Amino acid sequence: MRWIAKTTTLSIRPYQKQDRAGLMKIAADTAFFGEPIEKYMEDRRIFLDSFYAYYTDYEPEHCWVALDNQLVVGFLTGCANTTRQQQINRRNIMPRVYWRFLTMQYKPGPKAWSYFRRMARAQRAHQFAEADLNLYPAHLHINVDAAYRGHGIGLRLMQSFLDQLIYERIPGVHLGTSSENEGACRLYTQLGFQLLDARITSLWEDIIDHPVENRTYGLLLPDPPEQIF
Ligand SMILES: CC(C)(COP(=O)(O)OP(=O)(O)OC[C@H]1O[C@@H](n2cnc3c(N)ncnc32)[C@H](O)[C@@H]1OP(=O)(O)O)[C@@H](O)C(=O)NCCC(=O)NCCS
Repeated sequence: MRWIAKTTTLSIRPYQKQDRAGLMKIAADTAFFGEPIEKYMEDRRIFLDSFYAYYTDYEPEHCWVALDNQLVVGFLTGCANTTRQQQINRRNIMPRVYWRFLTMQYKPGPKAWSYFRRMARAQRAHQFAEADLNLYPAHLHINVDAAYRGHGIGLRLMQSFLDQLIYERIPGVHLGTSSENEGACRLYTQLGFQLLDARITSLWEDIIDHPVENRTYGLLLPDPPEQIF
């Protein structure tokens, strides 16, 4: 981990439009279990357009960022209604990604094609852990720049989003992760998340030399505190 100056000013606040490029950079820089996506995909735009554009462009009100002065150093992208997100993915997000493929706007290389094949196989084999969306309708993704991990940023981002969901009376939240994200699993457990489902996946078998488990964690949320006035 890089040394962070004692004068560093870290803050957490709701996402704003001008944070988009910084958020996307961290999303791609951390996409391979906290390391850059280039380990399995040459063109990061494919991943960002298909995976992260939903949150910044269709549900920015549930995104949070951590800043070091003006620099985005961590983020949480949230979704309050996963069913709605799945519909928007089908109707808006994926058609645009397919169009960009067809019009050769992306530059997928052998690593990306291999990843798409492994992903299709993993999906056919139902290797992705699931959550009951009636109990846990919300979900999230969280990542912190490698140089800023271990300073409480992840915890504060999680607390901000969970408080927001409680205030909005969302009954539960889930998230997908893996056995490779050990620090993240500890963070979720520390916050009270329960392991809901875990499945061994072949998705990373060309890249990681030991079995990897896809995991889904869930947390049921309390009612908001009574209003005094
Ligand atoms: C997981 C992640 C978001 C946590 O953010 P963070 O700012 O580093 O976490 P915090 O400093 O707030 O730590 C909060 C708790 O998380 C756990 N934790 C975080 N990183 C850990 C690590 N590397 N090893 C063990 N525990 C860890 C600890 O329980 C810690 O509590 P403690 O300090 O009281 O022991 C961040 O480390 C990260 O981006 N990691 C790589 C990408 C990733 O795994 N993202 C999640 C994908 S599901």
